[in-house]
Amino acid sequence: MTKFNYENVKLDLDRDKLINRMKTQLSDFRFNHCLRVEKTSRGLAAEYKIDVDRAGLAGLLHDYAKERSDEEFIEVIKSKHLDKNLLNYGNAIWHGIVGAEIIKDELGIYDEDVLNAVRRHTVGSTNMTGVDKCVFVADFIEPERDFPGIDKARKYAEKSIDAAVAFELKHSVAYLVKKNRVIYPTTFDSYNYWIAKGEL
Ligand SMILES: [Fe+2]
Ligand SMILES: [Fe+2]
Repeated sequence: MTKFNYENVKLDLDRDKLINRMKTQLSDFRFNHCLRVEKTSRGLAAEYKIDVDRAGLAGLLHDYAKERSDEEFIEVIKSKHLDKNLLNYGNAIWHGIVGAEIIKDELGIYDEDVLNAVRRHTVGSTNMTGVDKCVFVADFIEPERDFPGIDKARKYAEKSIDAAVAFELKHSVAYLVKKNRVIYPTTFDSYNYWIAKGEL
């Protein structure tokens, strides 16, 4: 396994310990996805001259809470007085926005740039940092991803990270509409903002 050190980020646990914690929380399938997102996110960060350590760490941790129960997420939303509107959604939204709180509490990660990238990895934001963009796009294009449009997504990611973000939001909104799924308001705001930039 490739070794990365997070020299720029203050951590209570080193990467090996974080990895061990993740293994106790995730299926092999999802754990391996997280490793691929870490690597892809670091690659994008290097290419676009973005903070490689933060992009990698947030990529590694982004799905840390994905396999928690709905009950646990609801408990965290209530005990931390997070936006009550979150209760109208589900795991797909919670594992990022609420997951960041779980990561903070269980792994002692307080770096807001890293936590924000986790919060924003499914819904995006109108205010995405470079680190947010790397994780958002890496989650979509990591090497095992395979869906109609993946080649286009990878091409955009090589050409312009902003175009890749816009393409991913367009793809996600279209997918949710097709599946008759509710769409979290931040996702719409992100879509409007990034599409209006005209990168596609
Ligand atoms: Fe996720
Ligand atoms: Fe993911």
